[in-house]
Amino acid sequence: MSRKPIIVGNWKMHNDVAQTRQLLGDLHARLGGIAEVDVGVAPPFTSLMLASELLADNRILLSAQNVHYAEEGAFTGEISPKMLASIGVDMVIVGHSERRQFFAESDEMINLKIKAALSSGLMVIVCVGETLEEREAGRTMQRVGSQVRSALAGVDAADMRKVVLAYEPIWAIGTGRTATPAQAQAVHEALRKEVEQLFDEGVAGRLRIQYGGSVKPSNAASLLSEPDIDGALVGGASLNAEDFEQIVLAARPWI
Ligand code: 13P
Repeated sequence: MSRKPIIVGNWKMHNDVAQTRQLLGDLHARLGGIAEVDVGVAPPFTSLMLASELLADNRILLSAQNVHYAEEGAFTGEISPKMLASIGVDMVIVGHSERRQFFAESDEMINLKIKAALSSGLMVIVCVGETLEEREAGRTMQRVGSQVRSALAGVDAADMRKVVLAYEPIWAIGTGRTATPAQAQAVHEALRKEVEQLFDEGVAGRLRIQYGGSVKPSNAASLLSEPDIDGALVGGASLNAEDFEQIVLAARPWI
């Protein structure tokens, strides 16, 4: 089954409003018309409104980096899925390892966020990944399998069309140490099997699974040529328009 590649830049806590304007202007010129690859950016909350205006007339998708699971309420400092949808945000990253690690997000909380975002019509990038210790102990699949099962518990098969999975080994994030294409492919293939067991072959076959962790122009093509790697979630390299463009171009299916 052929799946449309999806490359998303997770800006993390980088870029103020002026920097957002500049980077999006540059990305618009380079990638605004691209049709063969889904391209997205995930700026910080303070830049989303501006980004929504700047991206209104092109194909680049707009993602948030986090969301709360309630529609509204007494949750100081939080943003609801409905609020994101109201300013034209298309999708949201949920379960990033930095949120799990530094903000104590549990599997249960992540599951609530995913279901809430989907019911507001947002696409969701669901992140999973193992620590170095887990990998070395041979527990990678156990870890990411359980993250996927709890993340997708109670999600409707129909809503799975709006879900993208991102495999981000924690030891590869921001370290310059990338999983080899074979290591990543093995986990992606196993994740697809896990989703097939949870849903069915059709859902698993349609599901796009991104790799994330030190993706750069120099390693993107070899990762993206693996059969179960359908895209990339890019951190550091997405802050540079030229590097990000190179990674997107490496995802074009005819290359
Ligand atoms: P780096 O590309 O900087 O390693 O970050 C990966 C990541 O966490 C994307 O969400």
